Amino acid sequence: MKSSFLSVFVFLFSFYASAQPFTLPSLRFEYSAYEPHIDAQTMEIHLTKHHQGYVNNLNKAINGTKLETYSMNQLLLNASMRSDMVRNNAGGHYNHSLFWQILAPEAKQGNMTDELKNAIDKEFKLMDSLKSKLGTAAAKHFGSGWAWLIVTPDKKLKVTSTSNQDNPIMDVVKDRGIPILGVDVWEHAYYLKYQNKRADYLNNIWNLIDWQIVSANYIAALNDPLLKEIEDDSWPEIKDFHKVMAQTFHPAEKDDFIPLQARSGEMRAKSLLLYESVIPSRYQKPEVKANLLKLVKECEELDKLVKKNAKKIVLKAKIIQAHDTFHVIQGLCKD
Ligand SMILES: [Fe+2]
Repeated sequence: MKSSFLSVFVFLFSFYASAQPFTLPSLRFEYSAYEPHIDAQTMEIHLTKHHQGYVNNLNKAINGTKLETYSMNQLLLNASMRSDMVRNNAGGHYNHSLFWQILAPEAKQGNMTDELKNAIDKEFKLMDSLKSKLGTAAAKHFGSGWAWLIVTPDKKLKVTSTSNQDNPIMDVVKDRGIPILGVDVWEHAYYLKYQNKRADYLNNIWNLIDWQIVSANYIAALNDPLLKEIEDDSWPEIKDFHKVMAQTFHPAEKDDFIPLQARSGEMRAKSLLLYESVIPSRYQKPEVKANLLKLVKECEELDKLVKKNAKKIVLKAKIIQAHDTFHVIQGLCKD
């Protein structure tokens, strides 16, 4: 019974947060059910004015654009490429949908599963230590934002915070991962009842966290392909190299060597940056490092050949070699 309830709930969250046009979710309980920790008026205004505003503005911002076909995850992942309007409102909709999901009055909360309990014990030793870290992350946050408990790409738990309506899925954020618990630290979340006493709100919010739902989020996050996307997205040097390789190799295939002649130095520099970059933990194997070094040597040779005005047939053979090596690296970095 419990697991079917959870799966319906997880489905509803993913539906509201991902289906277009985006729609406002319902709260799990009536507005007054969250008292005394959050008052009914705050809950109502927060949902029907603030959250509804994010939903409306997001739909308006993407209406008639190519973003209309994007999933919520796609909108969030490449936040750096979005307008402020899309970034803030997509974040606002996702973040609040998660927040409503994890809140429940004490009598309606379920228990934490052993899987999550063990993971918390491993990372934070004690539950109190997790609460204190999250409380500190939220309290020290200047201005509006969120405090998070996330699952990182290497499948560990981490406490982080973000500004405004950003969240850890976005590529504009340093500590990335999938959030399983989020605490809204905007004034609109607590001001009517707590005024300037943000610390009291942060202490009391623990009384409303439904750990059964957070546990379900934890398992879902561990199995979510989005984690791999975040990890791959967190290796910008490979994307940078891929770009310059594609833009020089494909013309060279058709005997146009002008892009290669203009950018062989850049390609050499980017291969070195790639070799020296922080390789995502999943790809840290000797074959990857060895092929990255091979790529650096081949790009150096290619650059020297360009500078010596080598024959086109020689340039072509060398860029094919470097291109093949890059494909070997890409192949090694596939699961
Ligand atoms: Fe909010």
